[in-house]
Amino acid sequence: MTHDVAHKLASPRIEVPKHPEWPELAPAEKQALKERIKRLLQERDGVLVAHYYVDGDLQELAEETGGCVADSLEMARFGARSNARTLAVCGVRFMGETAKILNPEKTVLMPDLKATCSLDEGCPADLFSDFCDQHPDRTVVVYANTSAEVKARADWTVTSGIALDIVRHLHEKGEKILWAPDKHLGRYVQRLTGADMLLWDGACVVHEEFKGFALDRLRRLHPNAAVLVHPESPDEVVDQADVVGSTTALIKAVQELPNEEFIVATDDGIFWKMHQLAPNKKLIPAPTAGEGATCESCAHCPWMAMNALQNLEATLRTGANEIHIDPAIRERAVVSIQRMLDFAEGRR
Ligand code: 13P
Ligand code: SF4
Repeated sequence: MTHDVAHKLASPRIEVPKHPEWPELAPAEKQALKERIKRLLQERDGVLVAHYYVDGDLQELAEETGGCVADSLEMARFGARSNARTLAVCGVRFMGETAKILNPEKTVLMPDLKATCSLDEGCPADLFSDFCDQHPDRTVVVYANTSAEVKARADWTVTSGIALDIVRHLHEKGEKILWAPDKHLGRYVQRLTGADMLLWDGACVVHEEFKGFALDRLRRLHPNAAVLVHPESPDEVVDQADVVGSTTALIKAVQELPNEEFIVATDDGIFWKMHQLAPNKKLIPAPTAGEGATCESCAHCPWMAMNALQNLEATLRTGANEIHIDPAIRERAVVSIQRMLDFAEGRR
């Protein structure tokens, strides 16, 4: 039997912060700040590990200094491969925690430790643990966008780039799955694999803003555009996609598809990399406005927006905002993450 009903435990109310307003820097000021960051990285033997959704200046700096700009799977892989003593993670909290879990001997710094994620916030470890206790017959698969404590309770961690392959593999072995926290990604994976999945009732506040009917209208205005959708989006948006996939998969699609126009349903931070790799393609943000929209996030993650050159420089200068993980939690959480990395390696 396939469970299509999301888990209905009372989810905590998630406080979505306002987007921080970073003061505009004059070109000379920005250059000086970047030079200071480069010097501090050298002093600390550090590298930048940045996600595609953070500000373009941070992505550019990561590339200029031999760091990485990637999706959450590749960020984890890069951190584990790197010989640097310090990982400066520009992204959200779970990305820094994953880096620390995989590299306990390294110092992991983040520009702002308050940069969390609505999926992580919506899946507290105690409630999640109760849910797991109620379903001991199920293999526990959690999305990377969760706390270290939640990962410590899981059999597998997955990211959007590898979720389908891992769930298909488990389904072929006859395993029933308990999935958390993103119900949209969970439903997408369930539909494609046919796996028996019990879903936690969580969602990403950014991707939930994309509305099916508004996308349908926009597609009519751009009939030749390919529609690219991150699978954290609701079903009615995913159903209109030409390509559904991780941030890396969507960037690849812009480079490889012959279309000249693309409608993109994911955080607009991704446009920096898309423009860089495919400067002649026209990129149209998928609509967030319309009936039912709150525009709390307006297609830009407020937690990703907490990363900036200014607070990156401050954290590298002072050593503040270091990630620490309880060793007992780390010992268990690393098992579910390493399983994912080993699986991904086997697929290469
Ligand atoms: P990716 O792993 O596809 O980069 O997604 C991470 C994320 O938080 C998307 O909202
Ligand atoms: Fe979390 Fe959504 Fe922000 Fe990604 S975009 S970090 S899933 S809130």
